[in-house]
Amino acid sequence: MKQKILVTLVLIICVTNLSAQNNIRIKENFDFDWRFTLSDRPEYATVDYNDKTWDTVQLPHDWNIQQEFDIKCGGSAAYLPEGIGWYRKTFKIPSHYNGKKISILFDGIFQQSDVYVNGKHLGFRPYGFCSIEYDLTPYLNADKENVIAVRVNTTGGRPRWYAGAGIYRHVWLQAFNPVHITTYGTYITTPSVSTDKAEVHIVTTMKNSTDKTQTLTISQQVLDARGKAVTQNDSKKLTLPSQDTSDLKQILSLNHPQLWNLENPQMYQMETIIRAGSKIIDIYRTPFGVRTFKFDPKQGFSLNGKQIKLKGMCLHQDAGSMGVAVPDRSYERRLEILKEYGCNAIRCAHNQPSPEFLDMCDRMGFIVIDEAFDKWKSGYYEKYFDEWWQKDLENMLLRDRNHPSIVLWSIGNEVQEAWDNSTTGVERATMLQAFVHQYEPSRPVTLAAQNGHQAKFSGVTDVIGYNYLEARMLNDHQKYPERCFLVSEELPYFSGEEGNIRSYTPYNPWNIVASHDFIAGGFIWSGVDYLGEAGWPSKGWPNGLFDICMFEKPRAAYHRAMWNPDPMVRIAIIDPSLDIDHGRDLWQWPNMAAHWNFPEHYRGLVMEVRTTTNCEKVEMLMNDKSMGIHKTENFPNNTIIWYLPYTPGKLVAKGFNGDTEVANYQLVTSKETTNALITPDRTEIKADGQDLSHIAIQLIDSDGNRVQTDDRKITVSVEGEGKFRGIDNGDLRRKRTFAGNQLRTYFGTALITVQSTRKVGTMQVKIEMEGNSVPYIVEIRSK
Ligand code: GAL
Repeated sequence: MKQKILVTLVLIICVTNLSAQNNIRIKENFDFDWRFTLSDRPEYATVDYNDKTWDTVQLPHDWNIQQEFDIKCGGSAAYLPEGIGWYRKTFKIPSHYNGKKISILFDGIFQQSDVYVNGKHLGFRPYGFCSIEYDLTPYLNADKENVIAVRVNTTGGRPRWYAGAGIYRHVWLQAFNPVHITTYGTYITTPSVSTDKAEVHIVTTMKNSTDKTQTLTISQQVLDARGKAVTQNDSKKLTLPSQDTSDLKQILSLNHPQLWNLENPQMYQMETIIRAGSKIIDIYRTPFGVRTFKFDPKQGFSLNGKQIKLKGMCLHQDAGSMGVAVPDRSYERRLEILKEYGCNAIRCAHNQPSPEFLDMCDRMGFIVIDEAFDKWKSGYYEKYFDEWWQKDLENMLLRDRNHPSIVLWSIGNEVQEAWDNSTTGVERATMLQAFVHQYEPSRPVTLAAQNGHQAKFSGVTDVIGYNYLEARMLNDHQKYPERCFLVSEELPYFSGEEGNIRSYTPYNPWNIVASHDFIAGGFIWSGVDYLGEAGWPSKGWPNGLFDICMFEKPRAAYHRAMWNPDPMVRIAIIDPSLDIDHGRDLWQWPNMAAHWNFPEHYRGLVMEVRTTTNCEKVEMLMNDKSMGIHKTENFPNNTIIWYLPYTPGKLVAKGFNGDTEVANYQLVTSKETTNALITPDRTEIKADGQDLSHIAIQLIDSDGNRVQTDDRKITVSVEGEGKFRGIDNGDLRRKRTFAGNQLRTYFGTALITVQSTRKVGTMQVKIEMEGNSVPYIVEIRSK
């Protein structure tokens, strides 16, 4: 599969370059050489303002993440302050842009942005998660320098989680002919699919910004992953009056379509070519996939006719010390790890993600719930809701509608209106759903309802998500058998009775999802730790299955056992004395250590040891002596409980199917730290100024065994062609700012992130570990 992903990637890159070379349609990255100041003055918008003393920054950029924590700023934004900052970029228009319409496309500015070009105000956009495009053409100087200035304001209300501050996603400069396909102006659906044939519908939106009527020929063909045409070319003529915008619908027939699915996420591209006479005036390529899916009130979710459980995670978008300015490779690594783990679905909480994230979900085979809003008329968006909801929702639908990974549009999470006894909630949900249906009828609408919501409210959307209400869902399914259900937020460990979610029943809620066909799936809150929603001294939400380094926690063994068919067994020891960040009670787990290094006074103490497995039975050996064999089916949650007197040495768990040992896992009492295992995920990266290498650090003893009960200070510096981006250790109770290059390991681990420059070369990453006199040097090459 890796090879297929590579072929698709190479193809996309070649194709993009081809149209750029032809200069028909240009989309160039505009991330570099911006200036930034954390201050606010009206003259920053003017052309002549001298910004030379400002910092030079590269996008994606999050100014918040490098700031000092302040308890007064509140836990929702990770104790980081609100503020107003400005960005400026001075640039010349390259000659190959001559005669074209030119626009700037921001994929995310958090939040309340004002954009100016050469002193002219182009617009204000309050919402911080949508893409924003402005036409620059009338205001640009062809021969002189031009200045874009962007004011970003995070004061006056922020979300309930950390959303950062700044131009935190990519920015693009686009150029196209005056007669062109609009941005996101292709809409591809496949309403009829069989193994023999798929009907591919495409609606193309074209704009004529000349003062003459144009007669155009629009041709479409589908290319496979190798770039080979696999359909007949379909051509149609269209007369487009001056200054008009028009849609054209075409239908192509694709024989023996290769279906997009989770194991083999086959992608196609639609190549749309517009000609005026014999001259090509636009080429637009749209990646898409062919698949069918269904939500059914009895059978849950099916993809291409096959019932599938959505093994989902809710994810916020930040990545530890990168804040929300997450480089694409960081997301890619995250998704690679989740894919291997067995997760097959992502709920983007609670906003639309970056376009690149969705491209990755398409290429790697994840199901996605794309979510527009958290609250509606309560919370930080309240003051903007009436004026902006349509535009923001429209942006999500237009921008994201061709991604095969997306199967649901979510119009909101835990909205206050859900509790409302009046008709307001139902009316608002109906209004938003109708808007989505009208714009993008090929996918159903959902929303996530919270505890205590009105029954009539959860009856509005095509599919209803319940947050933590599995018990109520079972009852509601009886009352409303026509409704399609999924668990939009699921506690990772405890479940609760209806009306008393705090009964802390240690029966994992996934059991309920797994054992009822009608439930489409469940989305764990949250898959990965995130910043914000914190209680001091924590700076984030610590109850994910993965920490912010994407290290799998011992507690993640249960869902691995349930979600991943590969035979596995893991050992964890219940140890309430462990110094870990608890987070809120409902989302907690009993403290679990995945080591066998307890203090001397534990010796002989009978300890609760758990083996979580998907094997039929497990044998436990302590210092080579069998402590028995147990059948998994005799224990809840696929977790066998052992009581073992603590004896340092070696614990080995062997997983058996029948009499065959199919998995094993061991914990060894480690000696003192003598060394560190340093593992870069990649030693060769792209010299594009964006690519990353993640270097994992693991303390080890003289026998090479993992040490988890010692921590050392790590200091990082980078020389040569590369940049230091951050060091994280998974502990959100971080005292220093996220900006530092020094951190102690946590459970013996840390993660360093380094980034390429735009020059080919080698960087030397110097890693100094407290207690070791000789630093480690890791070489990463950029090509
Ligand atoms: C849910 C909410 C999430 C998150 C979670 C943990 O109720 O939808 O956004 O806040 O609780 O507190």
